[in-house]
Amino acid sequence: MSRAVACANIALAKYWGKSDVALNLPAVPSLSLTLEGLETHTEVTLTDASIDEVVLDGTIASEKETKRVTKMLDRVRALAGSERRARVVTENRFPTASGLASSASGFAALAGAACAAYGVDADEALLSRLARAASASAARSIFGGFARLPAGVPDDDSLAASPLFGPEHWDVRLVIALATSGRKKIGSTEGMERSRLTSPFYAAWVEAAPKLEAQIAEGVAERDIHLVGQRMEESTLAFHACAMASSPAVLYLAPTTLAVLERVRALREEGVAAYATMDAGPHVKILCEAHDEARVVRAASEVPGVIRVQSCKPGPGIRIEP
Ligand code: DP6
Repeated sequence: MSRAVACANIALAKYWGKSDVALNLPAVPSLSLTLEGLETHTEVTLTDASIDEVVLDGTIASEKETKRVTKMLDRVRALAGSERRARVVTENRFPTASGLASSASGFAALAGAACAAYGVDADEALLSRLARAASASAARSIFGGFARLPAGVPDDDSLAASPLFGPEHWDVRLVIALATSGRKKIGSTEGMERSRLTSPFYAAWVEAAPKLEAQIAEGVAERDIHLVGQRMEESTLAFHACAMASSPAVLYLAPTTLAVLERVRALREEGVAAYATMDAGPHVKILCEAHDEARVVRAASEVPGVIRVQSCKPGPGIRIEP
């Protein structure tokens, strides 16, 4: 049996839209921060069964989930020259119900544990490439701290993320404010496809994203919280505007989301360098420096509609136990 642990990541420069749907290549570059403590633990054991078996948080996975896992295992089996099936047991150890998608940490951990189980001697670039093929944001969770995933060139399946700076580079916090929403969630894969196919703003988003990502990379290198924060908010609102204009609309923001955004703006007027980002859901993640953490946590907790607040430090890359 082989094990791997990978942490979730949040994009500071957002990935939204694919340049090649079949190969799962992103249309825009993205840049992320890996988060400590939000871990997926995955074990892969080779079996003599005729199908792969997947247990997700103690429950047998659905057919759709199992298919996605089998697809990645097929790639690893091709590299290993093996036809053996596997039993995959995966567990999300997100300390509180953080409301964060676990697909990034999940597919990163699966790539690591599967390669180890099948005896594939994979470096981080290969692990990232395997993870990316399953879920593009997972490519970034192979690395600790700050990681970058370029846009993909159609038909070129070699795309992987690369590390930019380790977790020790910058003592920032990502404060997650869990917001309520009654709406049914549209998954990011479906939301970004609908944006690509129907949003009149999709081309404008794809055109604007690379410059924002480059500026965010520059800001991270210089540890410039204002540059990173401002561009992160622009990247966030640009992709949400693109999504919202889709037909039918892809709307993730809820009243509580907007209330937290208002509070973050007010914090800035009070002199606190706090900036917000949202993904395919109503929760708000607030970026700040460590010395402002307590103030930001308190402010976010006081916003009506916020269910829970959790602060995360920059986290490590994947750990594999062969
Ligand atoms: C809004 O990586 O979940 O979180 O490649 O289709 O699996 P697939 O999409 P996914 O999309 C993440 C979108 C995002 C922004 C980001 O993490 O960059």
